[in-house]
Amino acid sequence: MIKVTYYGHSNVFIESGDTRISIDPFFSDNPFTPQADLKTIMPDYIIVTHAHSDHLGDTVPIAKHSHALVLSNFEIINRLKKSKINCHALYISGTFVIPHGWIKFFPAAHGSSFEDGSYGGLAMSVMINIDGKNIFHAGDTGLTCEFKGIGELYTIDLALIPVGGNYTMDTRDAAIAAKWLHAQNVIPIHFNTWDTIRVNESQILEHVNPVAPVHIVKIGNSYTME
Ligand code: NI
Ligand code: MN
Repeated sequence: MIKVTYYGHSNVFIESGDTRISIDPFFSDNPFTPQADLKTIMPDYIIVTHAHSDHLGDTVPIAKHSHALVLSNFEIINRLKKSKINCHALYISGTFVIPHGWIKFFPAAHGSSFEDGSYGGLAMSVMINIDGKNIFHAGDTGLTCEFKGIGELYTIDLALIPVGGNYTMDTRDAAIAAKWLHAQNVIPIHFNTWDTIRVNESQILEHVNPVAPVHIVKIGNSYTME
């Protein structure tokens, strides 16, 4: 069984067997997780899709206490190395082998600067293959034809797709992305964190559900795959 826990925004925690993967661990300034106890977040791997603070989040403190290996692009890893945490740089098309699967990065149409404005490399989406399933986390991205190719090459059991608009795809774009990905299931992310990305849940269902089953996961709750 694969368990995918949603902590709001793009913050997702995947567990399969003994392998635990945190993606974009944004807890401290996340309005959805004001009470978060970082010490309870114990991943083996942390994936950072891009340098924006709502994605880089609490990567450093979580990596310090969990000794997780952080996977991200070259520029982000270069910066994180100074914090003396375990890091490995990958780039688009780069594949990293994990127990019972692999992690591979794809292009995202988005920026990736650090909070001080310095260069954070390219923004990325990520595919996680684990125990025979493919989970695609789109990170922050606009709608691009990239999704067509990814959908052609991979069977995507679960796609985590931003729907909040403004900085990323909105619900209509997300529906097209889900279609191009041939996503078997969709969990909407990157919405309702702030007013700029406010979306009605009924609107997500109206636009995306005709394309693929949509699972709106409540904060701290999990979606499971057999
Ligand atoms: Ni961003
Ligand atoms: Mn973001």
